[in-house]
Amino acid sequence: MKTSVLPVDARRIGRLTAVPRPNDLLDDLEVQLSTDSQDAEYLCLAAERLRSSDIPVAFPTETVYGLGADATRSSAVKGIYKAKQRPSDNPLIVHFGSLQQLRALLSSKPFADTQVNGHAENLDTDPIPEIYRPLIAKFWPGPLTIILPNPKNSPLAPEVTAGLSTFGARMPKHALALALIKLANVPIAAPSANASTKPSPTAAEHVAYDLGGRIETIIDGGPCDVGMESTVVDGLSNPPLILRPGGISIEQLRTCPGWEKTEIGYKNVAELGSQPRAPGMKYRHYSPKAPVVLFETGTPPPSADELSKFVESNGRIGFVRTKTWIFNFADHGRPVSRIVAKSDKSITSEHVRSDLNGFACLVEALNSDRYPTNNVEKFSLSLSGSQVQVIDIALGTDIADIARGTFAALRELDKQNVSTIVVEGIDDAEGGTAAAVMNRLRKAAEIQISS
Ligand code: TXA
Ligand code: MG
Repeated sequence: MKTSVLPVDARRIGRLTAVPRPNDLLDDLEVQLSTDSQDAEYLCLAAERLRSSDIPVAFPTETVYGLGADATRSSAVKGIYKAKQRPSDNPLIVHFGSLQQLRALLSSKPFADTQVNGHAENLDTDPIPEIYRPLIAKFWPGPLTIILPNPKNSPLAPEVTAGLSTFGARMPKHALALALIKLANVPIAAPSANASTKPSPTAAEHVAYDLGGRIETIIDGGPCDVGMESTVVDGLSNPPLILRPGGISIEQLRTCPGWEKTEIGYKNVAELGSQPRAPGMKYRHYSPKAPVVLFETGTPPPSADELSKFVESNGRIGFVRTKTWIFNFADHGRPVSRIVAKSDKSITSEHVRSDLNGFACLVEALNSDRYPTNNVEKFSLSLSGSQVQVIDIALGTDIADIARGTFAALRELDKQNVSTIVVEGIDDAEGGTAAAVMNRLRKAAEIQISS
């Protein structure tokens, strides 16, 4: 199968107009496409394929790229599981382009009716459960998925819910995603567009790398802004639960009426302790080929001796650095076999890339045919007497930059064929995004080291 990567610039598709009404952020969306724009043509082609084909379409959202299919057609939804090789007991998130579309599904009316008459509905008969209304008002469109009861006679294909009586719904905050859903005129089931077990894709090239030859269409809207998947919440349980951490934090949720007592309902893998686990013994998720060794925040960085244990025969080791680690080349420009945790920014050398611009550089590096790969530093280090090739990525010190760059860094180091990836963790108490980053890294890690 030939895979086309279609570049679409959201600024060139035409005009998007939100149609609001009281208490709603995005009741409906009007899309007026430009008539002479390649970008608009590509978007229409993708929408047409979503409507008629059983091969899923990859598209950008603000969190990660999604692999979309018409959520109402079984054969299309099966295409997602097939392309990703995802186990079919893992339910999918359904993406909506407007509240009208969500209400139509919850009231199980034919979509065509509400497209015409939607404005006539009034809030008293709103089929959206009350508990979710403050969340929707505050966080939609945005990186928040809510668990809703799947109505009787639901038009959702049974493959979407994997046998559950509920479904996850989200309205993405991305112009291309919203316009695409509106043009397709059906809710779109979409998991992250990576091959199952791999890190989530935050750029079109990641999707092409994993799914090239398995799907026909990838809309390339540039790198994703958030870089971590949405927060998943269940307001049907009491107290409400966070099922997956994401950009919206527990503190933010607790400010909403009915959500004051929100609890964490996901397992924090770190609570299992610092016991190194044998590679390959865990259920893999977000995992590059090379084993990930995660240093929890506050743990001293590895000594030369410790590091040399992680280096296998090919002598290549990858680093993902975040807040405090730097390579200390203070010894007259010659690398020394030591990594020091330093918040003192005055220790620098020409070998140490500035942390400030971590993400911008990373994106440039990953688009390597368009840009020089100047942010992926390579140098050799003498570890316990042998020379080791280091591939080093600094994500920057800002949490948003770290979230944006984490999955891309894991993927880049895989391409560089390192035998181990050493990651400097961050403090997950710093907020929702930090919790999301550490949740994914702990799942990716073969070994977690904490003090
Ligand atoms: O940011 C995102 O959410 C991305 C983009 C593409 O929107 N999508 C995404 O989808 O991450 P996926 O399929 O990779 O993750 C779906 C998550 C899983 O953790 C799944 O278990 C949970 O949502 N989920 C879906 N439906 C559920 C349900 N009915 N009950 C509980 N959890 C559900
Ligand atoms: Mg996923």
